[in-house]
Amino acid sequence: MNISVAIDGPAAAGKSTIANIIAKKFKFMYINTGSMYRAVALLCMKNEVDYKDINQVCDLVKSMDIYFKNDRIIVNEQDLEDEIRSVAVSNNVSNYAAIKEVRTILVDIQQKMSAKYNVVMDGRDIGTVVLKNSPLKFFLTASAEARARRRYLELNNNGILVEYNNILNDIIKRDYIDSNRKESPLKMAQDAIKIDSSGLSIDDVVKIISDHIKRYMAELKVI
Ligand code: DC
Repeated sequence: MNISVAIDGPAAAGKSTIANIIAKKFKFMYINTGSMYRAVALLCMKNEVDYKDINQVCDLVKSMDIYFKNDRIIVNEQDLEDEIRSVAVSNNVSNYAAIKEVRTILVDIQQKMSAKYNVVMDGRDIGTVVLKNSPLKFFLTASAEARARRRYLELNNNGILVEYNNILNDIIKRDYIDSNRKESPLKMAQDAIKIDSSGLSIDDVVKIISDHIKRYMAELKVI
């Protein structure tokens, strides 16, 4: 039986950083599902496919061969990891992620990945939809200001100059769309463990999650 770890939470809560460390530590595959929705948005934008044109969006999504290699997203043999992080994609991705048909296709791909490998998967609907039977579900959150501050420092450290207030407004807007959309809104699974990382270091959060995984693996007698 494969082990699947689900990590959900709002934008910029540190999910990908934490999920990546956990995956390396336990030698599981890391699957960043937000990257998959971003890749959909990027390809649609490049091909001038509006999110309202659901048939065309779906045709394009079905033509995408998506996999992860060294934690980078590869679509139709092209590494899109850098391009999907652009501000333009960030500003448009929620519209594409709200399309039910897009979610059905991507959820199916994600579930097939978890059937094949031990995975750490992060996103918005992992504990509630994609891995709803997983016993290892975490909901990582932090205040909007703490998240905006982290994202601001991360972008500026990477030489991308941005205004703090723009980041904060973008996070508040994305939280609203992600939490209020009809299809699989961001919601904590009832059986998830909630971790508020506002006052915690990365190491603190990694330790909390690792301890749960170790306990579970010990029960299964796989460590
Ligand atoms: O985590 P992120 O910011 O890279 O996610 C990009 C967008 O995709 C964001 O608007 C939320 C959406 N998303 C989603 O709806 N479901 C997921 N499982 C992952 C991300």
